[in-house]
Amino acid sequence: MREILITSNQIEEKVSELADRISEDYLGLEPVVVGVMRGAAIFHADLIRKINLNLSIDYITVSSYGNDTRSSGEVQLLKDLKTALEGKHVILVEDIVDTGLTLSFLERMLSARNPASLKVCSFLSKPECRKIDVEIDYLGFEIPDRFVVGYGLDYRQMYRNLPFVAVLRSDGDSN
Ligand code: PRP
Repeated sequence: MREILITSNQIEEKVSELADRISEDYLGLEPVVVGVMRGAAIFHADLIRKINLNLSIDYITVSSYGNDTRSSGEVQLLKDLKTALEGKHVILVEDIVDTGLTLSFLERMLSARNPASLKVCSFLSKPECRKIDVEIDYLGFEIPDRFVVGYGLDYRQMYRNLPFVAVLRSDGDSN
């Protein structure tokens, strides 16, 4: 049996809560909400539809894990944004912060483009795995150091479409 860590009801409630906070904090502003592909695709799509602001969206693709379950420690930029960030209020949307390497790479790269502000919204965080201290302004859930799939998170590109978050069984099956 798979172990469901976060149900789709819990996800929906949390996404609404985060979207409400963002809508309040950015009142009168038009942020650029950047999804970090591919993991954040689902969370990003749900979140932006609940944010009550005029906003624009963009995507950036980085990779650190490849097809492995552990971070390779090297972050690569695979596809850059289309938006020029100078003077813009940017919200970076991640599915998970694990070692923090991806986020710190992105923050360094994007803050060099002189945005008016740069904040981070992550669906999940595994604080036990941190190698670099990073700040998450809007966080969904803290989870223990277990390999999780679903709601955008994959194992060898599978299971991103599960509407909940489950712990991957040791044989790689999430059923
Ligand atoms: C995952 C996840 C984060 C990053 C977090 O991406 O989406 O971007 O790893 O790990 P870190 O804090 O240890 O850097 P991955 O490289 O697996 O690509 P994906 O988004 O396509 O799944």
